[in-house]
Amino acid sequence: MGIIKPGTPWLDTNGKIIQAHGSGMLPMQENGKTVYYWYGEDKTDGYRPLVGVHAYKSTDLLNWEDCGVVLKAMDSMETFNEPYFQELYGHLNQEEKAAIFTDLHKHTAVLERPKVIYNAKNNNYVMWFHADGPTATSTANYAKAKAAVAVSDSPCGPFTLLGSYRLDHYGGEHYLHNPGMARDMTLFADDDAAYIIYSNEENYTLYISRLNDDYTMITSGGVESPGYAPVEGVDYARVFPMGHREAPALFKHKGKYYMVTSGCTGWRPNPALYAKADSILGEWTNMGDPCVDDVKRTTFDSQSTHVLPLDPDNGKYIYLGDRWVPDDLANSRYIWLPLAVNKDGSVTIEWVDEWQLQL
Ligand code: GAL
Repeated sequence: MGIIKPGTPWLDTNGKIIQAHGSGMLPMQENGKTVYYWYGEDKTDGYRPLVGVHAYKSTDLLNWEDCGVVLKAMDSMETFNEPYFQELYGHLNQEEKAAIFTDLHKHTAVLERPKVIYNAKNNNYVMWFHADGPTATSTANYAKAKAAVAVSDSPCGPFTLLGSYRLDHYGGEHYLHNPGMARDMTLFADDDAAYIIYSNEENYTLYISRLNDDYTMITSGGVESPGYAPVEGVDYARVFPMGHREAPALFKHKGKYYMVTSGCTGWRPNPALYAKADSILGEWTNMGDPCVDDVKRTTFDSQSTHVLPLDPDNGKYIYLGDRWVPDDLANSRYIWLPLAVNKDGSVTIEWVDEWQLQL
């Protein structure tokens, strides 16, 4: 039985440091057992050159087997000639390949916060991530502000990138001139539908948009689609309007929805806030900072990325966060802490130096 020590180097079963930051976790039932897949940003080479999305698997959440890089970044258009990429993108024309390359470009793209959910209808795995980088009119790293989607028949990839998109906009004035932005993001698979949750309106407002049946697009089609006419409360919801929140991690407990978020201070940590709702596209209420005795008010020196059920019947969850090291991103650490949904419906996250997971 292993022990989790938040903030200490975490090695995979080959003894190599786990590279899966800004992560998401996918539990799957395989042969009567729960297998967990951990997806995240591979920051072996720091901010850039990009490596891609790395995946690991485990049955106990402690010992992680390396599944390799399941979505690979690319050096140049020539890379499409390699058999691996030919297999995934050989059917595309040059223009389509160029679009894929922009989102996977090792030296200019930003590929952050990948999340994967399982689509039962198509029996496949759908990954969304924050796809950013410069645009035709801006050299800024976060000008593009899109969300990208990739699919695979296997949880360990390889994932094929389908494209990247601007998502929803509410039609009001705020950022109407730059609509549908998507930056920090996560996914949530509910019983009857799945959703993408993302920072929009220049990170001022979080949105939740409903995905189509394939999970490969939002139901409204996004601001760039012809006849775009989304309905608030049906296609999307705005959460923490003008609240300047990011790093969303959404979960459901006994029919209620909860979302842990961070403020927007780059790699530097800040106080968490969580919100609660009766329906996912309904009214969300700000519930304050869930952290207990967090003296520095920094979410225990971490930024949220995911919340994983541990013993949900008893209100026990795991908070997953990143402790970024801006000058040495490869050595950013994982902060996994007990998160409780209490009898009164409040959420608390507590620091522990170490803990033994009871699965
Ligand atoms: C944070 C964000 C990270 C990354 C970073 C870059 O605000 O949560 O995912 O984008 O900024 O500075």
